[in-house]
Amino acid sequence: MHNNTFIQKFMQYYNYPKDAVRVLTEAEQRLDAEASFGAAVDTLSERYKNGELDFHAALELLDGISEKYGMDERTLKFVFILNLTEWVREKYSQGDIPDAVFWETFDDLRSKLLECMECEYTVGTFVPGWYADFLALKIFKYGRFEYQIGEYDLDFDFDTACGIHLTKGDRVLNLHIPSGGAPLTDEVRMDSYRKAYDALGHLFPDGRMIVKCGSWLLYPNHRKFLPKRSNILRFMDDFEFVCAEEKDSFYYDWRIFGHYSDLPLAEMPRDNSLRSAYLDWLLAGNKCGDAIGIFVFDGEKILRTLIKNEGVEMADKYFEHIVHGGDYNPDQWLSAKDIWNEDMRLMRLAHINNATVGIFSWTAIEPEEGVYRFEWLDEILDKLAANGIDVILATPSGARPAWLAEKYPEVLRVEENGIRNEYGVRHNHCLTSPVYREKVRNINRKLAERYKDHPAVKMWHISNEYSGECHCELCQAAFRDWLKNYYKNDLDLLNERWWNGFWSHTVTDWSQIHSPKERGESHVSALKLCWKRFVTDSHISFFENEIAPLRELTPDKPVTTNFMRMYSGMDYQRFAQHVDLISWDNYPYWEAEDNAYTAIETAFNHDVFRSLKDGKPFFMMESTPSVANWRPVNKIPAPGQLALTSVQAIAHGADSVQYFQWRKGRGGHEKFHGAVVDHCGHENTRVFQEVSALGQTLEKLDSVVGTRSEARIAVICDWENIWATRYFCGYNNLKRDYIGECIRWYAPFHKRGYNVDVIAMDADYAKYDLIAAPFLYMLKNGTEQRITDFVRNGGTFVATCLTGITDSDDRCFLGGFPANGLKDVFGIWNEETDSLPEGKNGKATFNGSVYDVEQMCDILHSRGAEVLGTYTSDFYAGMPSVTKNTFGKGTAYYVAFRNTGTLAEDVCAAVLQSTPIPNHIPFAIPEGISVRRRGDCIFVMNFTDTEANIRLDTPYLNIPDDTVRTGLVPVPARGFLILRAE
Ligand code: GLA
Ligand code: GLA
Repeated sequence: MHNNTFIQKFMQYYNYPKDAVRVLTEAEQRLDAEASFGAAVDTLSERYKNGELDFHAALELLDGISEKYGMDERTLKFVFILNLTEWVREKYSQGDIPDAVFWETFDDLRSKLLECMECEYTVGTFVPGWYADFLALKIFKYGRFEYQIGEYDLDFDFDTACGIHLTKGDRVLNLHIPSGGAPLTDEVRMDSYRKAYDALGHLFPDGRMIVKCGSWLLYPNHRKFLPKRSNILRFMDDFEFVCAEEKDSFYYDWRIFGHYSDLPLAEMPRDNSLRSAYLDWLLAGNKCGDAIGIFVFDGEKILRTLIKNEGVEMADKYFEHIVHGGDYNPDQWLSAKDIWNEDMRLMRLAHINNATVGIFSWTAIEPEEGVYRFEWLDEILDKLAANGIDVILATPSGARPAWLAEKYPEVLRVEENGIRNEYGVRHNHCLTSPVYREKVRNINRKLAERYKDHPAVKMWHISNEYSGECHCELCQAAFRDWLKNYYKNDLDLLNERWWNGFWSHTVTDWSQIHSPKERGESHVSALKLCWKRFVTDSHISFFENEIAPLRELTPDKPVTTNFMRMYSGMDYQRFAQHVDLISWDNYPYWEAEDNAYTAIETAFNHDVFRSLKDGKPFFMMESTPSVANWRPVNKIPAPGQLALTSVQAIAHGADSVQYFQWRKGRGGHEKFHGAVVDHCGHENTRVFQEVSALGQTLEKLDSVVGTRSEARIAVICDWENIWATRYFCGYNNLKRDYIGECIRWYAPFHKRGYNVDVIAMDADYAKYDLIAAPFLYMLKNGTEQRITDFVRNGGTFVATCLTGITDSDDRCFLGGFPANGLKDVFGIWNEETDSLPEGKNGKATFNGSVYDVEQMCDILHSRGAEVLGTYTSDFYAGMPSVTKNTFGKGTAYYVAFRNTGTLAEDVCAAVLQSTPIPNHIPFAIPEGISVRRRGDCIFVMNFTDTEANIRLDTPYLNIPDDTVRTGLVPVPARGFLILRAE
């Protein structure tokens, strides 16, 4: 009996449209009425159910039956599936899967029916094959999404941000998004992930559920036009980007436009914001595409974008005004508390609106184990609140009390030499120690409990400048566990990846592995890379431990931790995922070095930190209002430099100017470090007056707060590649300087006023037009594919010597450099690499000019690339030194030699000439002047000692002095303009 009560109930349950019910019922009735028709379908059904026939084969046979009996194949296949649903429901019950899941899952059939009716005016489905896994109980719907039990099937490995290394064949859940359901709000998405985890999390023995999705919804270029508030963007943010492909024709248009998708673009409806955004994009000649993304879920949150996972919407903007403040240590003055009132007066006078309190206050808060003294902190926080000064409250883990170290020596760090440190200085703790973690968590909980509702407290400053590493036995054991996880508990795999056959290094037990050290293993670069990855992860887990009570008690308060200038002891590009907002401490060495270079290097650092969170504004958490104390010689920067340094930070995306420190202490190691308030104690100092004047300027910059600047150019400076380029032995062992090389290739774009992102090699490339990637020696998994896709889809990629040499375990690629398919992308083969001793430079040409070949150079063969220059010295004279290759729709340059002169500038000029990119700066930029656009402002900064001029064709307001400027406008030496179009 085909037309039975179950099928009627099924259609009714999902509220199938009347027309559909009619057509389907008639079809069922025909199967009942026409014996041979019914039998033909039933035979297939039986053969499928008892495993004789696979589902796709059954569908093929149905084609013949539909033709023979004259029923639309889309309808017949739908009916075929419909008739299997009751049997599937029984399988659910045999497998102890709740009946509710069955009903939720088979809702999919309704979306397929509606799709087919909408687009093809037929009752049925045009994707019947999709049901194979539904019927085999391999795909289930939980909440908004469907989850298909599957395997990672890409040809390259992928490392997730939380440390899972995925190889072909590893278990994943493929996520699907049925069309026409509820909007993808945070709540809807998280609800679905949680439900899926409850049901299917057990498939992942370590409790981390890996979800993979391939969809047009993840195509990164769509970010360029999707409305800012679009839930699709939030959905995209859940994922780590794996790869993308641009499509010539947008074959998913029916998902947006239904049956209108047959119309020419210009005639399609624009009746909602998504439709009209898509149309504008396509009509402007752009393409759509699809992408693959991955996320890891632990049952509560996505393991990398912690905040969102906790259901808290963290904005781009935490304060209405530029934050102006700094480290404030009232606890150093507990015996002279009168000074606190003076501090309040002076802060108001200096236009300070924020103070960071408590960074090293552990002993003041917990003088004895379990004894807490919060009175002083209550009092000062109240005072700050009464004076309208916001507080960033610090957790005190950066320095521990003496009693703690005395009672629990395990909290002290063991150095590489194996000796445990004694109590002293700061940052001297083991990151693994359970005792230290517990003590930190306890005090953080106390702080959160006490101040969660305090009106002044707006944000958390976690610890201080996390750094260093510990080599104690606890850390060794943790490192081995980390390796077991990374190498899937497979020692053979580790031996293979570390190439341990070399020098008889094969290990036969995990216990034989130790942290790298001079007196032990210092020559296995893969070990050293893994150690740094481990050190990064132990900092992250230490940090997560610190913030656990804060997330619980103050879920609305953002957390940050202050990073340091290009600090290479841990991978900030990885750590960044775990903080809500990036902050970093900026101490450029003005005066002693070349100020012009220091300005570029500082700009580069700002862009590194801004790019850590996809351009979201960051905080300059520390800077000195005058001088540091820790350099060999501490020269005072010239008057005006303080404001210029601060304005540069804002121009590059900072939403704060903060100082170390508010007031100089009487004693201690940092009593001579610059401060807003000097030992004299009053406001009549040059520094105080400069701070106060700057504060007034910052008060006029509300319009830039929270704004992001889009960049179309990126430079790759990858943290893991910093390590890899340091660790290998060979070629030129003296001159590596990867970061310096990145700055060299950043400078030409910076100089021209472009916003430049500085990104990791596994960032999303799709939003850029041009990427420069000097010295991309090690390729993390998937990078080769990303570069290939980027160029194929129309991007311009500039690489230099030593590109694509080793994989993420520092094993050389076989088959010629650069790795694998990159030889086609660049149209070259790099046969040998030469190194040049100091003073023995070679010569090469580019576009007719002659350059010194310094430090290192690759000896290339062109395999189809255009040769833009050749070597003119040594045995490789006549071979290519710079090449340009067209690949797909894009262009790939290879600059095979190093030159510390003008080569990078000249190559970039040529690249920009053949691929022009607008910089939106309405005037010519004189030499030595930095220009940056942010929000509605153009920042014009002069880091030289000579006045320069710019020409403004239309009037602009110069915000600091409220004057309107036009024509030839001077930019004073060490001065700046902040212009807003009138
Ligand atoms: C010596 C050693 C070899 C190898 C070479 C490298 O000859 O015996 O094992 O290290 O140096 O040049
Ligand atoms: C770092 C630290 C501060 C202070 C300053 C001095 O940035 O975070 O505590 O020591 O250096 O420049």
